[in-house]
Amino acid sequence: MYKISTGSSIMHCPVLLESRSRLKAQMETSVVAAAPDYFTRTRVSRNVNMEKLQNNYLFPEISSRELEHMKKYPHAKLISLGIGDTTEPLPEIVALSMANYARCLSTPEGYKGYGLEQGNKELRKAIAETLYKDLQIKDTEVFISDGSQSEISRLQLLLGSKVTIAVQDPSFPAYIDSGVIMGQTGEFDHASGRYQKIEYMKCGPENNFFPDLHETSRTDIIFFCSPNNPTGQAASREQLEQLVEFAQENGSIIVYDSAYAAFVSDESPRSIYEIPGARKVAIEVSSFSKIAGFTGVRLGWTVVPDELLYSDGFPVLHDFNRIICTCFNGASNVAQAGGLACLSPEGLTAVYSAVDHYKENARILVDSFTSLGLRVYGGVNAPYVWVHFPGSKSWDVFSEILEKTHVTTVPGSGFGPGGEEFIRVTAFGRRDNILEASRRMKSLLS
Ligand SMILES: Cc1ncc(COP(=O)(O)O)c(C=O)c1O
Repeated sequence: MYKISTGSSIMHCPVLLESRSRLKAQMETSVVAAAPDYFTRTRVSRNVNMEKLQNNYLFPEISSRELEHMKKYPHAKLISLGIGDTTEPLPEIVALSMANYARCLSTPEGYKGYGLEQGNKELRKAIAETLYKDLQIKDTEVFISDGSQSEISRLQLLLGSKVTIAVQDPSFPAYIDSGVIMGQTGEFDHASGRYQKIEYMKCGPENNFFPDLHETSRTDIIFFCSPNNPTGQAASREQLEQLVEFAQENGSIIVYDSAYAAFVSDESPRSIYEIPGARKVAIEVSSFSKIAGFTGVRLGWTVVPDELLYSDGFPVLHDFNRIICTCFNGASNVAQAGGLACLSPEGLTAVYSAVDHYKENARILVDSFTSLGLRVYGGVNAPYVWVHFPGSKSWDVFSEILEKTHVTTVPGSGFGPGGEEFIRVTAFGRRDNILEASRRMKSLLS
């Protein structure tokens, strides 16, 4: 059985600083303390909501810890199973279609400037017909984005500072941080590790990773991510039926994040719109990032059904369209050409084969942690493995694993107080790295 110890055994390995330049860049741009007095100051006061934010955003913080570790052990081969970034190359059909599109842009006949703010019509149609087949999603309800993270912030802009929000605890940090920046929350309470005015819906093994809705206060907006980052759990149909019913009863809007829908391997829904009634209470944000390796290409989409109405009967879609036209000028046309290729029959086959690769990685990681006698969750419907270390602080577990094995993970508490005692391990990685990381964990942590 794995136990956290205070000492550490160091292993020296050959050099491979695979992400040094990325880390260095992040370090250089990371937040520094207030500038010294001799710097000239403007008369602009800092946004009070920015002042409320705690620490750095989680992933730059992890990158800076990786960098410190690499300075300490310059000869170690660091394996990063921290940030959930894809590693498999793009399918050739997808890369070629982007290359061809870019090539055409260099010709007078093929050149195109701004596209439609809402996205390429063909791509909107392909998403509606391929990914929402039989779910009655119209192409006019699909908006193409440059990825779901920026879209979450645009949605926050749409919703404004007066709404109340609920999040799963633990949850992907962007929902909370963007809510804080918008002014939807109160101050951070250090004792509880929570922001005031946010409803935290605890999701852990004790409640099958689904909140007790009888204990949940009404909020205007409910952010819900399934399959979930970080816990790797997908909500079942029955659970999502309860969630939709809860939103209907309370007149709330669910912002459903389905960034990992392609990883669902069982009967769990891949979209909130599989649940009857969801069209009247839910917006869905999604992304090509994890499905198709587009983390660097940047492409996503959002579905806003025309039946979703504000309390005064005004359609949310009309306001969202206005936000898109005002705050976004449409996704890159090159990226959209790539997205369209992903949804072709050949593209889909290639894309799902990369997803299968990551699922097999997840299986290897689950087996490794299980063999150490640990309780392991996720990894079946999502590329994340959620490992429980009862009684331990998750940053301590993170540090000890890094010190002993030169493998980075993510401390669960970085996703909210409900993540304490857990670490998240990503299955995004090259197979040799996953096998090597598993070998080190098994031999050095047992
Ligand atoms: C749940 C979830 N939503 C959204 C995102 C952001 O994705 P994108 O690359 O489309 O901005 C991520 C990225 O890790 C995520 O885990």
